[in-house]
Amino acid sequence: MTSPETIVVTGATGQLGRLVIADLLRIAPRARVSGIVRNVAAAKDLAERGVELRVANYDDYASVAAALAGADKVLLISSSAVERRTVQHRHVIEAAKAAGARFIAYTSILHADSNPMALAVDHRETEGLIRSSGIPFVLLRNGWYTENYTDKIAAAIERGVVLGAAANGRISSAARADYAAAAAVTLASRQAAAGKVYELAGDDAYTLAELAAEIARQSGKSVVYRDLPEADYRTALHAEGLPEVLAGLYAESDVKAANGALHDESGQLSALIGRPTTTMAQSVAAALALVHSTGGNT
Ligand SMILES: NC(=O)c1ccc[n+]([C@@H]2O[C@H](COP(=O)([O-])OP(=O)(O)OC[C@H]3O[C@@H](n4cnc5c(N)ncnc54)[C@H](OP(=O)(O)O)[C@@H]3O)[C@@H](O)[C@H]2O)c1
Repeated sequence: MTSPETIVVTGATGQLGRLVIADLLRIAPRARVSGIVRNVAAAKDLAERGVELRVANYDDYASVAAALAGADKVLLISSSAVERRTVQHRHVIEAAKAAGARFIAYTSILHADSNPMALAVDHRETEGLIRSSGIPFVLLRNGWYTENYTDKIAAAIERGVVLGAAANGRISSAARADYAAAAAVTLASRQAAAGKVYELAGDDAYTLAELAAEIARQSGKSVVYRDLPEADYRTALHAEGLPEVLAGLYAESDVKAANGALHDESGQLSALIGRPTTTMAQSVAAALALVHSTGGNT
């Protein structure tokens, strides 16, 4: 009998990482599923479900190298530290190489090679590092999570307005769980199609005005979309509590989305996961249910 393969997921305590791990435990029951975490206490629930915890900080190469020892397959979930993530990702890729990993998958950004968003720069650099590492790879070029919008649904309903700078740009978002399913399927595959680049996005696209209309329809409240100039939207995001750098990046992303940077009709995500992606209306319904169940304290 062959020994179980070891699949290591970085960002295991993150929202995407947790969903990937849940899917892997279900669809790859013979694999040894391991998660890289910074804080073991925050991952107690994962350990209880049989996930092997490996402690590392992307900033510390030695810790990453130790955590990837014995890894057969690695999922590099892009870091949330946007100011320095290329270096952090390089540490993971070099450690995976040193560990002799035979496969690496990376959560990149939709159309990374041509995406004009400032956020895409790190992803392009990371894709380049992966390609030149020589490790067989799959690039999971994720589009926007619908949760980027629906996480703010309570505020949108309270103010009666969805703010943005994406004008009439069509956004092919999908639920975070859809992207997680794609990553899990890729990792669980016996013969992961090395070198494959997936453009992953929702089956249906919508404008932010359509999003506001759907929130209004389902909530029964008046909610409209207000398109702002980039600088005003950046200020609004910062006032909502986003750090200045992130507010700037997200406002700039919205302007690029106005010109189609988040639009994709390839259907590759639903093809990969074997089911339709979660619709915007379904995500709105899920977010409203959460708001109602928590009395608005999401
Ligand atoms: N496509 C989209 O719409 C979209 C939206 C948001 C983010 N993203 C990208 O997708 C990634 C995953 O999304 P998510 O929702 O799961 O984000 P998340 O919930 O913020 O998770 C980020 C994960 O990265 C880990 N991490 C951050 N810095 C680290 C470090 N120095 N060393 C080790 N681990 C570190 C975090 O660990 P801790 O739990 O210890 O903090 C966490 O597990 C994000 O990091 C970001 O790059 C994409």
